[in-house]
Amino acid sequence: MADESQKWVLMVTAQTPTNIAVIKYWGKRDEKLILPVNDSISVTLDPAHLCTTTTVSVSPTFDQDRMWLNGEEISISGGRFQSCLREIRSRATDIDDKEKGINITKKDWEKLHVHISSYNNFPTAAGLASSAAGFACLVFALGKLMNVKEDHSQLSAIARQGSGSACRSLYGGFVKWIMGKEEKGTDSLAVQLADEKHWDELVIVIAVVSSRQKETSSTTGMRDTVETSLLLQHRAKEVVPKRILKMEEAIKNRDFASFAQLTCTDSNQFHAVCLDTCPPIFYMNDTSHRIISLVEKWNKAEGTPQVAYTFDAGPNAVLIARNRKTAALLIQKLLFCFPPNSDADLSSFVLGDKSILKDAG
Ligand code: ADP
Ligand code: DP6
Ligand code: CO
Repeated sequence: MADESQKWVLMVTAQTPTNIAVIKYWGKRDEKLILPVNDSISVTLDPAHLCTTTTVSVSPTFDQDRMWLNGEEISISGGRFQSCLREIRSRATDIDDKEKGINITKKDWEKLHVHISSYNNFPTAAGLASSAAGFACLVFALGKLMNVKEDHSQLSAIARQGSGSACRSLYGGFVKWIMGKEEKGTDSLAVQLADEKHWDELVIVIAVVSSRQKETSSTTGMRDTVETSLLLQHRAKEVVPKRILKMEEAIKNRDFASFAQLTCTDSNQFHAVCLDTCPPIFYMNDTSHRIISLVEKWNKAEGTPQVAYTFDAGPNAVLIARNRKTAALLIQKLLFCFPPNSDADLSSFVLGDKSILKDAG
């Protein structure tokens, strides 16, 4: 290792987009390894809109692993952060940077500590998959820092141990998380179904109904569901396996009617499963329901789906329009139904700087 008196710092910054599931993951068969009860499929969003930026650094002067999230120090003693750190550390390889005079061996990595600083450019813990972007980015950045040679699919299996949905954010485009069969979870990882260019007419509009932190985290919510919901068992065994096959077909053929029908139905069944939990979990609110009605009525009037909706564990709507023209119409309709500065103000319906609105224009 470089001389400790040199006080060097090695730093890596990574940016990772979030992903929104169109066939949802909800329920674990193994809590510790984070192994799901069913496969899931997601769309990775454009990093310009919703993403995490994480900087990881290492220095012989650091005496413990520490992390700051959105500017505040958080504890990383929990199992999830520790699993990710342990898995990446165990795969660290030598670094020999003659220019900087830094030489780190595999053995050194066991003793060196890291500092992690992470920012989400969208609401954290509000049902917009911050845990997905967050843990995927953390694992990716640590992997780069420690010169880990694993490929994206192997990294996805590590990110999975931070937050299940995170495994899908290692890839762009359409991604499937294969639940796997192995007890140790080695085959529970993400694969890319199609890249971001495959279906690039689609436009995603996010309606931020509330950026407040949700009352029931995804982890707690799905644990309660697994323990109490019979509907979940039916969903995981009978419904999702068939839907996954149909969704893969719809994506392959860019069949928007089928894609929209499957996406909306699966979101609704996920929320039905939440209601079937004891005590029931309410992630959507009145505004979410009004958005669903608006889309359903519009799709019916057109005779063929124009927009798909999906809601994660929170009230915020993710709306997928079949093309730019439809997205522009959708935004018009949303503005009409939820006028700015009215009681039904949805003014924050397009993310922060309105970048998604710009995309649709
Ligand atoms: P969400 O719907 O936003 O994914 P979750 O309840 O699944 O909400 O997860 C929220 C948790 O994810 C946070 O409390 C935090 O522990 C973790 N998290 C969020 N952002 C990051 C990040 N950038 N880096 C690491 N962990 C993060
Ligand atoms: C509704 O991945 O956040 O967004 O694995 O406990 O961290 P943990 O849960 P998380 O759950 C995501 C649930 C969901 C659906 C999905 O992303 O598939
Ligand atoms: Co999450």
